[in-house]
Amino acid sequence: MANEDNGGYKPWGGRFTAPTDAFVELFTSSVLFDQRMYAHDIQGSKAHARMLAKVGVLTQAEADQIINGLDEIHADIESGKFEWSVSLEDVHMNIEARLTQKIGDVGKKLHTGRSRNDQVATDMRLYLRDEIDEIGTQLTRLQTALLDLAEKEIDTIMPGFTHLQVAQPVSFAHHLMAWFEMLQRDGARLKDCRVRVNSLPLGAAALAGTSYPIDRAFTAKELGFEAVCENSLDAVSDRDFIIEFNFVASLIMTHLSRFSEELIIWMSQQFSFIDIGDAFCTGSSIMPQKKNPDVPELVRGKTARVQGNLVSMLTLMKGQPLAYNKDNQEDKEPLFDSIDTVKASLRVFADMVPSITVNRDNMRAATMKGFSTATDLADYLVRKSLPFRDAHEVVGKAVKYAIEQKKDLAELSLDEMKQFSDIIEQDVFGVLTIEGSMKARNHIGGTAPEQVKQAIARGRKHISN
Ligand code: ARG
Repeated sequence: MANEDNGGYKPWGGRFTAPTDAFVELFTSSVLFDQRMYAHDIQGSKAHARMLAKVGVLTQAEADQIINGLDEIHADIESGKFEWSVSLEDVHMNIEARLTQKIGDVGKKLHTGRSRNDQVATDMRLYLRDEIDEIGTQLTRLQTALLDLAEKEIDTIMPGFTHLQVAQPVSFAHHLMAWFEMLQRDGARLKDCRVRVNSLPLGAAALAGTSYPIDRAFTAKELGFEAVCENSLDAVSDRDFIIEFNFVASLIMTHLSRFSEELIIWMSQQFSFIDIGDAFCTGSSIMPQKKNPDVPELVRGKTARVQGNLVSMLTLMKGQPLAYNKDNQEDKEPLFDSIDTVKASLRVFADMVPSITVNRDNMRAATMKGFSTATDLADYLVRKSLPFRDAHEVVGKAVKYAIEQKKDLAELSLDEMKQFSDIIEQDVFGVLTIEGSMKARNHIGGTAPEQVKQAIARGRKHISN
């Protein structure tokens, strides 16, 4: 960051007699963090210049000069030649000042009929729109990785848990598809949020609109906005779209965090259900045997900052009167941080999921351990016309007995079973197998392999739309 000497020039300096305090200059500036929006600032300025030429406020030659100048600045920034100046406060004034340096007085005409208030709101929307699309791409990559893994694990049996206690046998692919579903809703929320991002504030000027004969529909079309913000006061002060995005990002992170928690548990020696590829784990500096699931741990940890950003944004807005207030400069870091974090987390998960290896034997053994077919035994009794509550009682007693005998239900003899209900016959053993239990849940949303196969096919179709 060069704090180049521009003679203390401020585009707004006309009514001031004393220069800005040096620390205040640094304190009020945003260029250190808003320069990342340079491409969108330039994109917005070019569209504004074209619009001004269209309505006759600028000549075509003036607009062309401005646009060429902005293109040069874009190239200078990309090649690292551009010197950002804190005394020029923000990305907007840095670029505008450079434009005037490059093309002379014509550069000063760019800001006609515009304010930084509608400019910054426009930049934020353009920037976020692109990032939403990128996040959507990463989300789909992760969903694809889940579908690919699920496809290989349709017949893999694991214990389904409630209260983290063994509950009923499920297909591992069914479990993976639960994560897929969460991400599917996240994708839909992202799309919906994009609709409200995709609206043009430019034209609101400082707060009340402008006296120039502007054509907002033209600017909107140039920038690919589907609508214009319909109230100028709201246009410059609304940050709902950032709050909304931060919520969507928070929920994505919450989902990834739950996902992380399970991967971490499953990779522990106590479970040993899965292993994560070495490329996604790290070791310990003191314990040579360690292989730690750092990626999911870190993603679980990063969830905290994204949720913090959501609360920051809600709090930032709660006391603001209309219209623009400098408070709004504080919207950038929570937004940028959430974007960076959610994008990186999705990306690393999409890369990591294919490295997961599955220990099918351990999953199966764990399913055998926890009386996971007890409900199936109850359902068997119900089919033999015992009321469900009575069946529940019978099976409870059978489980208690089996625990005492250190046996699974399927290991009890028919005679032992008959102690609890004499309607139990030889065919009971068919329902006590974990495969039978899984296959029996054969309806949409159930864990029967046939259903899981169809769920995967539906999932593939959803993400290709
Ligand atoms: N850097 C400012 C921001 O991020 C740009 C808008 C400044 N507007 C103003 N009236 N001071 O919000």
